[in-house]
Amino acid sequence: MRDKTTGTIMANWKDHFAQLFGNQELHLQHTLHKSELFTDENLAKVLDELDQKYYHINTRATGPDGHKRRREGDDGGLSGEDLLKAIKKGDIWINIHMPPERHPKFGEMMNQMYDEFEARVPSFHSYKRQLTLLISSPNMVVPYHADVPGQMLWQVRGHKTVYVYPNVKPYLTQNSIEKMVIGEFHEVDVKYEDWFDEGANVYDLDPGYMLHWPLNLPHRVDNKDSMNVSMTTEHFTTPIRNTYGVNYTNAFLRKLGFKTLQNNTSGLMMYAKLAIAGAIKYSGLGKKAKKPYEIEFSVDLNAPNCVKDITPYMLSK
Ligand SMILES: [Fe+2]
Repeated sequence: MRDKTTGTIMANWKDHFAQLFGNQELHLQHTLHKSELFTDENLAKVLDELDQKYYHINTRATGPDGHKRRREGDDGGLSGEDLLKAIKKGDIWINIHMPPERHPKFGEMMNQMYDEFEARVPSFHSYKRQLTLLISSPNMVVPYHADVPGQMLWQVRGHKTVYVYPNVKPYLTQNSIEKMVIGEFHEVDVKYEDWFDEGANVYDLDPGYMLHWPLNLPHRVDNKDSMNVSMTTEHFTTPIRNTYGVNYTNAFLRKLGFKTLQNNTSGLMMYAKLAIAGAIKYSGLGKKAKKPYEIEFSVDLNAPNCVKDITPYMLSK
């Protein structure tokens, strides 16, 4: 899996990247596209061993209001091999959460990815690391959104274009960030205008390349005309956790009617807000009931776009 000459996952690291990490987008080379973990054969094996709790199969359709919306599906009882065929010719994507205890080889790879960054960026200490494998149809799109944890996007097979936007108004509002951290935010809630693209940095992401961007930068993705195999890694650090805690508390204070709230990321006020965030979490006040998913289609090799509508049923994940 690792580069045979250097033994590392990262391929073209330069010392000055350490100063840019977390502050500016980094478009770097890696060696994971050479790994045996991502062959059709191994991906089919991963798909054969899926547990409903850990994955989502989705497609997009135009709703009655004219907006595209995400639809949840199931695997229709297909083998991993057939599911891969369906992704290659259909209009679907599958998102697989890869906890290391279920997928030790992927877990080992993820830890190696992070350990290499931590060895090279002295201020970087990550925890709550997570890996998600994404296998998606040609021309699939991921709409404009932002994420709460620190993130990296790793391209292994296929080609995509990634648009990355500034995390300030009008691209992303403080209100959106706060809604995001308390889980009241959906991708459709983030306002996107075509002209935002003028402010975007645009990357062609080919196999063997990855992107890391500063916290909360909005982004969207267009797959090119090929099946894509990518991974996202997510992590927290102490500064990310502090930002999260302050936004979390601000979101609740705002609900109580407070209007002018500072975005303190250091000092006494930050610690006060972190304490409030902890108290809200401990009290269970911030807990939202987990909504079950409505499964509306099955993957079917013979259906148009490999999407067969079914009588919907509810599934908790
Ligand atoms: Fe994202």
